[in-house]
Amino acid sequence: MSRSAHPAGPRHGDVLPEGHYAGPPADLNSLDPRVWSRTVRRDADGVVTVGGLPVTALAEEFGTPAYFLDEEDFRARCRAWKDAFGPDADVFYAGKAFLSRAVVRWLNEEGLNLDVCSGGELATALAAGMPAERIALHGNNKSTEEITRAVEAGVGRIVLDSFQEIVRVAHIAERLGKRQRVQIRVTVGVEAHTHEFIATAHEDQKFGIALAGGQAAEAVRRALRLDGLELIGIHSHIGSQIFDMAGFEVSARRVVQLLAEVRDEHGVELPEIDLGGGLGIAYTSDDDPREPHEIAKALREIVGRECEAAGLRVPRLSVEPGRAIVGPTAFTLYEVGTVKELEGLRTYVSVDGGMSDNIRTALYDAEYSVVLASRTSDAEPMLSRVVGKHCESGDIVVRDAFLPSDVAPGDLLAVPATGAYCRSMASNYNHALRPPVVAVADGAARVVVRRETEEDLLRLDVG
Ligand code: LLP
Repeated sequence: MSRSAHPAGPRHGDVLPEGHYAGPPADLNSLDPRVWSRTVRRDADGVVTVGGLPVTALAEEFGTPAYFLDEEDFRARCRAWKDAFGPDADVFYAGKAFLSRAVVRWLNEEGLNLDVCSGGELATALAAGMPAERIALHGNNKSTEEITRAVEAGVGRIVLDSFQEIVRVAHIAERLGKRQRVQIRVTVGVEAHTHEFIATAHEDQKFGIALAGGQAAEAVRRALRLDGLELIGIHSHIGSQIFDMAGFEVSARRVVQLLAEVRDEHGVELPEIDLGGGLGIAYTSDDDPREPHEIAKALREIVGRECEAAGLRVPRLSVEPGRAIVGPTAFTLYEVGTVKELEGLRTYVSVDGGMSDNIRTALYDAEYSVVLASRTSDAEPMLSRVVGKHCESGDIVVRDAFLPSDVAPGDLLAVPATGAYCRSMASNYNHALRPPVVAVADGAARVVVRRETEEDLLRLDVG
């Protein structure tokens, strides 16, 4: 039985997601530079390469599934962000997107700062030598231990997220004989156009202190009264995977309004504002993200304009991109295990990973693209769903994709733009062993996070 080929689009009865169906790409073998890191190509044999290394050899050496991280691309993106914002601003890489000691060293060398949101991320940052004053600690429920460790280490800022935390951080700092630099995270009441689970500036959610009803102004009042705190600014993060700058515009305007209120009430001009991260990347060819220099220009203009209107000195600006730096720098390599045609529907292509190495499709309906990476093919495009090996029908890696209709067990598939929130959200569901992260640079590949082993699993299971 031949597999379904859909050269001219879906057949009657195909189940397609609402609003997203563009038909097969003109050339299934091409690699759209928007979704691949900059050293990815196909070699003369048709094999996808990264940093000049063919995925067939990489799969042999490191196994599959595995994440391959393009160090040159990562560093170039760090530099692009840093150059775009210039010396009057700070770029904090959001470590939650993906953090490892190698990444911390690259950030350090490229002059970026680092935002951490847990004791584990803080420990990784410090272990890899990130100077504490370039670290910011986030979180809506930081433990006393996490706060204590951060204050002791001398982190450059702690972002306060609740009234209780204002007091908690002040007490800890006073007990340690320190004055901790802090920002207050406010919720500006913006509905970001993104998935509900990753939108963070509307009022009905757990992060920040609302500007509405004067709560944020009250938080400032309290923070300014406490000796253990040095209030340096206001923080806002409106959500993730955002393309439209309108949300940032509203957010910046409201944050600057608060700065003006603070000046009027306390005679203090807070010197910093942080507009968070959340800048979108291309997961598929349909996505069209802005370049860092355009984003920097837009944000600077908005902040400058609002400050001028309010008669304020322009505060030092910081941003916290995570996904926009690491997301496009990595791809996941899988091996095909089975191919199952469902007549009149689509073909299910099962790979050797799944929701344990990429939960984003199941959790956020995220869209990804995929290519046959171990060879090219002239076969007809086949409407496919790339699924994992977990015991759950929602275990989908790429919901709708066209693959050549001759895709077969043993082929390698590569899913681009998996650098952010894939390894960092990976799980051991079904006792899967979390895949390694392999960094590729200068024609060489090295493991920066190794693959888990069954011994790792059993070590935690103390019987
Ligand atoms: N700053 C703050 C305060 C944040 O909460 C976040 C993300 C960032 C910066 C970085 O956002 P980015 O530039 O990476 O979008 N797991 C979800 C994303 C959750 C983001 C949480 N906070 C996903 O896979 O889409």
